[in-house]
Amino acid sequence: MTSETGADAGAAPAWTIRDLGEEDLPWMADQEVRMFGASAWSRELITHDYLYGLTRYRGIALDGELVGYAVYGYDGDAFHLLNLAVAPEARGRGLGRALMDDFMAEARHEGAPDAWLEVAVDNEVALALYRAYGFEDVRVRRKYYQPEGLDALVMRVQLNGYEPDA
Ligand SMILES: CC(C)(COP(=O)(O)OP(=O)(O)OC[C@H]1O[C@@H](n2cnc3c(N)ncnc32)[C@H](O)[C@@H]1OP(=O)(O)O)[C@@H](O)C(=O)NCCC(=O)NCCS
Repeated sequence: MTSETGADAGAAPAWTIRDLGEEDLPWMADQEVRMFGASAWSRELITHDYLYGLTRYRGIALDGELVGYAVYGYDGDAFHLLNLAVAPEARGRGLGRALMDDFMAEARHEGAPDAWLEVAVDNEVALALYRAYGFEDVRVRRKYYQPEGLDALVMRVQLNGYEPDA
Protein backbone atom coordinates (compact mmCIF):
# COMPACT_ATOMS: atom_id res chain seq x y z
CA MET A 1 0.00 0.00 0.00
CA THR A 2 1.46 3.38 -0.94
CA SER A 3 -1.17 6.07 -0.76
CA GLU A 4 -4.92 6.48 -0.87
CA THR A 5 -7.15 9.39 -1.58
CA GLY A 6 -10.67 10.31 -0.66
CA ALA A 7 -12.66 12.17 -3.29
CA ASP A 8 -16.19 13.08 -4.16
CA ALA A 9 -17.07 11.98 -7.69
CA GLY A 10 -15.51 14.41 -10.15
CA ALA A 11 -13.98 16.58 -7.43
CA ALA A 12 -10.34 16.97 -6.42
CA PRO A 13 -9.20 14.54 -3.70
CA ALA A 14 -10.20 15.80 -0.27
CA TRP A 15 -7.38 14.00 1.48
CA THR A 16 -4.37 11.79 0.84
CA ILE A 17 -2.87 9.11 3.05
CA ARG A 18 0.79 8.26 2.64
CA ASP A 19 3.73 6.89 4.59
CA LEU A 20 5.42 9.52 6.71
CA GLY A 21 9.03 10.24 5.79
CA GLU A 22 11.82 10.90 8.26
CA GLU A 23 11.51 14.58 7.34
CA ASP A 24 7.91 14.55 8.69
CA LEU A 25 8.91 13.39 12.18
CA PRO A 26 9.66 16.86 13.65
CA TRP A 27 6.17 17.93 12.55
CA MET A 28 4.69 14.84 14.19
CA ALA A 29 6.62 15.49 17.42
CA ASP A 30 5.24 19.05 17.52
CA GLN A 31 1.71 17.73 17.01
CA GLU A 32 2.21 15.19 19.78
CA VAL A 33 3.01 17.92 22.32
CA ARG A 34 0.13 20.02 21.09
CA MET A 35 -2.41 17.19 21.26
CA PHE A 36 -1.19 14.91 24.03
CA GLY A 37 0.68 17.28 26.36
CA ALA A 38 2.61 15.50 29.07
CA SER A 39 2.01 12.04 27.61
CA ALA A 40 3.23 13.04 24.11
CA TRP A 41 5.69 10.76 22.33
CA SER A 42 9.03 12.57 22.38
CA ARG A 43 10.94 13.33 19.21
CA GLU A 44 13.64 10.87 20.32
CA LEU A 45 11.11 8.08 20.88
CA ILE A 46 9.44 8.76 17.53
CA THR A 47 12.72 8.80 15.61
CA HIS A 48 14.02 5.65 17.28
CA ASP A 49 10.76 3.78 16.77
CA TYR A 50 10.47 4.99 13.18
CA LEU A 51 13.97 3.80 12.33
CA TYR A 52 14.15 0.58 14.33
CA GLY A 53 10.64 -0.44 15.43
CA LEU A 54 8.24 -2.92 13.84
CA THR A 55 5.95 -0.03 13.04
CA ARG A 56 4.46 1.83 10.16
CA TYR A 57 3.94 5.59 10.21
CA ARG A 58 1.08 6.94 8.10
CA GLY A 59 0.10 10.56 7.54
CA ILE A 60 -3.06 12.16 6.21
CA ALA A 61 -2.88 15.40 4.24
CA LEU A 62 -5.44 17.97 3.17
CA ASP A 63 -4.35 19.91 0.07
CA GLY A 64 -0.89 18.43 0.51
CA GLU A 65 -0.55 19.59 4.11
CA LEU A 66 -0.26 16.98 6.85
CA VAL A 67 -3.07 17.23 9.39
CA GLY A 68 -3.02 13.83 11.07
CA TYR A 69 -1.19 10.55 11.51
CA ALA A 70 -1.48 6.99 12.68
CA VAL A 71 1.12 4.47 13.80
CA TYR A 72 0.59 0.74 13.37
CA GLY A 73 2.62 -2.02 14.93
CA TYR A 74 2.80 -5.58 13.67
CA ASP A 75 5.18 -8.21 14.98
CA GLY A 76 3.76 -10.99 12.84
CA ASP A 77 1.32 -11.88 15.59
CA ALA A 78 -0.58 -8.90 17.05
CA PHE A 79 -1.63 -5.99 14.84
CA HIS A 80 -1.77 -2.89 16.99
CA LEU A 81 -2.93 0.70 16.62
CA LEU A 82 -0.24 2.56 18.55
CA ASN A 83 -1.18 6.14 17.80
CA LEU A 84 -3.92 8.07 16.01
CA ALA A 85 -4.41 11.82 15.91
CA VAL A 86 -6.00 14.50 13.75
CA ALA A 87 -5.16 18.17 14.28
CA PRO A 88 -8.00 20.00 16.09
CA GLU A 89 -8.72 22.31 13.14
CA ALA A 90 -9.21 19.31 10.80
CA ARG A 91 -11.43 17.17 13.05
CA GLY A 92 -15.01 16.17 12.35
CA ARG A 93 -14.42 15.79 8.60
CA GLY A 94 -13.96 12.05 8.40
CA LEU A 95 -10.16 12.01 8.55
CA GLY A 96 -10.07 9.87 11.67
CA ARG A 97 -12.27 7.37 9.88
CA ALA A 98 -10.01 7.51 6.80
CA LEU A 99 -7.00 6.63 8.96
CA MET A 100 -8.98 3.83 10.62
CA ASP A 101 -9.97 2.47 7.19
CA ASP A 102 -6.29 2.49 6.26
CA PHE A 103 -5.34 0.72 9.51
CA MET A 104 -8.00 -1.96 9.07
CA ALA A 105 -7.05 -2.49 5.42
CA GLU A 106 -3.40 -2.92 6.39
CA ALA A 107 -4.28 -5.37 9.18
CA ARG A 108 -6.30 -7.47 6.77
CA HIS A 109 -3.62 -7.21 4.11
CA GLU A 110 -1.14 -8.65 6.63
CA GLY A 111 -3.57 -11.46 7.38
CA ALA A 112 -3.83 -10.54 11.06
CA PRO A 113 -6.63 -12.43 12.81
CA ASP A 114 -7.45 -9.43 14.98
CA ALA A 115 -6.42 -5.87 15.77
CA TRP A 116 -5.74 -4.27 19.14
CA LEU A 117 -5.51 -0.81 20.67
CA GLU A 118 -5.49 1.05 23.96
CA VAL A 119 -7.56 4.15 24.59
CA ALA A 120 -7.98 6.37 27.63
CA VAL A 121 -11.19 5.37 29.40
CA ASP A 122 -12.48 8.97 29.25
CA ASN A 123 -11.76 9.57 25.54
CA GLU A 124 -15.39 9.51 24.37
CA VAL A 125 -14.67 10.61 20.79
CA ALA A 126 -12.03 7.96 20.17
CA LEU A 127 -14.15 5.30 21.93
CA ALA A 128 -17.08 6.08 19.61
CA LEU A 129 -14.78 5.87 16.60
CA TYR A 130 -13.29 2.52 17.63
CA ARG A 131 -16.65 1.02 18.52
CA ALA A 132 -17.91 1.99 15.07
CA TYR A 133 -15.14 -0.25 13.69
CA GLY A 134 -16.26 -3.18 15.79
CA PHE A 135 -13.67 -2.86 18.58
CA GLU A 136 -14.83 -4.39 21.84
CA ASP A 137 -13.64 -3.94 25.41
CA VAL A 138 -11.15 -6.57 26.59
CA ARG A 139 -9.83 -5.24 29.89
CA VAL A 140 -8.72 -2.13 31.73
CA ARG A 141 -5.01 -1.41 32.22
CA ARG A 142 -4.71 0.68 35.36
CA LYS A 143 -2.61 3.85 35.22
CA TYR A 144 -1.47 3.03 31.66
CA TYR A 145 -1.07 6.67 30.65
CA GLN A 146 1.73 8.45 32.47
CA PRO A 147 2.37 10.87 34.00
CA GLU A 148 -1.38 11.43 34.40
CA GLY A 149 -1.99 7.91 35.77
CA LEU A 150 -5.08 7.52 33.58
CA ASP A 151 -6.54 4.05 32.97
CA ALA A 152 -6.61 2.60 29.46
CA LEU A 153 -9.21 0.38 27.94
CA VAL A 154 -7.71 -2.45 25.86
CA MET A 155 -9.91 -3.08 22.83
CA ARG A 156 -9.88 -5.72 20.14
CA VAL A 157 -11.68 -6.44 16.90
CA GLN A 158 -11.69 -9.81 15.19
CA LEU A 159 -10.99 -9.36 11.52
CA ASN A 160 -12.51 -12.52 10.17
CA GLY A 161 -15.94 -11.54 8.98
CA TYR A 162 -15.38 -7.88 9.85
CA GLU A 163 -17.84 -5.55 8.15
CA PRO A 164 -17.26 -1.78 8.32
CA ASP A 165 -20.02 0.10 10.12
CA ALA A 166 -20.97 2.24 7.11
C1 LIG B 1 -10.10 10.68 17.73
C2 LIG B 1 -9.79 11.55 16.49
C3 LIG B 1 -8.57 10.97 15.77
C4 LIG B 1 -11.00 11.55 15.57
O1 LIG B 1 -10.62 12.27 14.40
P1 LIG B 1 -11.70 13.02 13.47
O2 LIG B 1 -11.04 13.32 12.18
O3 LIG B 1 -12.34 14.14 14.19
O4 LIG B 1 -12.78 11.85 13.30
P2 LIG B 1 -13.92 11.73 12.19
O5 LIG B 1 -14.33 13.09 11.71
O6 LIG B 1 -13.47 10.74 11.17
O7 LIG B 1 -15.09 11.11 13.06
C5 LIG B 1 -15.05 9.73 13.35
C6 LIG B 1 -15.95 9.37 14.49
O8 LIG B 1 -15.43 9.88 15.70
C7 LIG B 1 -16.53 10.21 16.56
N1 LIG B 1 -16.53 11.65 16.74
C8 LIG B 1 -15.88 12.59 16.02
N2 LIG B 1 -16.06 13.81 16.56
C9 LIG B 1 -16.86 13.62 17.64
C10 LIG B 1 -17.38 14.48 18.64
N3 LIG B 1 -17.14 15.80 18.63
N4 LIG B 1 -18.13 13.93 19.63
C11 LIG B 1 -18.39 12.61 19.66
N5 LIG B 1 -17.89 11.73 18.74
C12 LIG B 1 -17.16 12.24 17.75
C13 LIG B 1 -17.79 9.77 15.84
O9 LIG B 1 -18.02 8.42 16.16
C14 LIG B 1 -17.35 9.89 14.40
O10 LIG B 1 -18.09 9.11 13.53
P3 LIG B 1 -19.37 9.72 12.76
O11 LIG B 1 -18.85 10.89 11.98
O12 LIG B 1 -19.84 8.61 11.91
O13 LIG B 1 -20.32 10.14 13.84
C15 LIG B 1 -9.52 13.03 16.92
O14 LIG B 1 -10.61 13.48 17.70
C16 LIG B 1 -8.24 13.24 17.71
O15 LIG B 1 -7.16 13.36 17.13
N6 LIG B 1 -8.33 13.32 19.04
C17 LIG B 1 -7.17 13.60 19.89
C18 LIG B 1 -6.19 12.48 19.87
C19 LIG B 1 -6.80 11.20 20.34
O16 LIG B 1 -7.55 11.18 21.30
N7 LIG B 1 -6.46 10.10 19.65
C20 LIG B 1 -6.90 8.79 20.02
C21 LIG B 1 -5.89 8.18 20.94
S1 LIG B 1 -6.36 6.53 21.43
